[in-house]
Amino acid sequence: MKSVQSKKQIQVTVHFTPANLDEMQLKDKNIVIIDVLRASTTIAMALQNGAKEIIPVNSVENAVKISGSLYGDVTLRAGERNARMIEGFNLGNSPDEFTEEIVKGKSIILMTTNGSVAIVKGKHAQNLVVAGFVNLTAVVDFLNKLDSDFVIICAGKENYFCLEDVVCAGRIINKLAKETDSVLLLDDAGEASLTLDKVFGKSILKTLKNSEHGKYLSEIGFADDLKVCAAVDSIDVLPMLTGNVIRLQKNPGSSQ
Ligand code: MLT
Repeated sequence: MKSVQSKKQIQVTVHFTPANLDEMQLKDKNIVIIDVLRASTTIAMALQNGAKEIIPVNSVENAVKISGSLYGDVTLRAGERNARMIEGFNLGNSPDEFTEEIVKGKSIILMTTNGSVAIVKGKHAQNLVVAGFVNLTAVVDFLNKLDSDFVIICAGKENYFCLEDVVCAGRIINKLAKETDSVLLLDDAGEASLTLDKVFGKSILKTLKNSEHGKYLSEIGFADDLKVCAAVDSIDVLPMLTGNVIRLQKNPGSSQ
């Protein structure tokens, strides 16, 4: 057991939205991107169901450009605008669309309004992992092994605060604090996310149902997605960005 004085200190920085962050600020950082509704959950589901890789992009134009020569049997275009499938794409952004039958062995180009855009901002990170409630423990285990400073970026909604992402950030920090031998040094946003988890994390599904984006998804027919996104540790995978591509990471802490 280490004495308090000799304990390592880990700086945890939380951003409630990716607004004001740019690629260079995030260069060489250890980053966790959270987009509970729904990009994080969809990415975890696709990889668990055998997708070869996810290529996140920050515009529909880039999705079309990248898929230009690749588009065909092995590449799918997925994503949303206002949570609905983009015209000409193969899939939307509902996790349940990404079945083994549809995604196994495929490269998926993913364009979403907030989640994929936030991931692209972190493309020069040292390590970048994608987190939701569905893979919470996998992310905490990774951070515990990493034992180094990290930044959590909540994808939010068009640069506004989203409760569900911040509650998930708080849950990750709460769980890590119980498991690490190091001391977590939190910024104000990190402290606030801990409290929000204590209050709103009591019933995650209820919180998702009452959230602005959750209500919107329910209104347009995606209420079932909320249950998938609320299921803690239901998808035990660690999606990690390497270069421009997200793949499953088997050895946390080292790049593939
Ligand atoms: C996003 O990135 O904005 C989303 O995941 C929105 C959604 O499809 O619900």
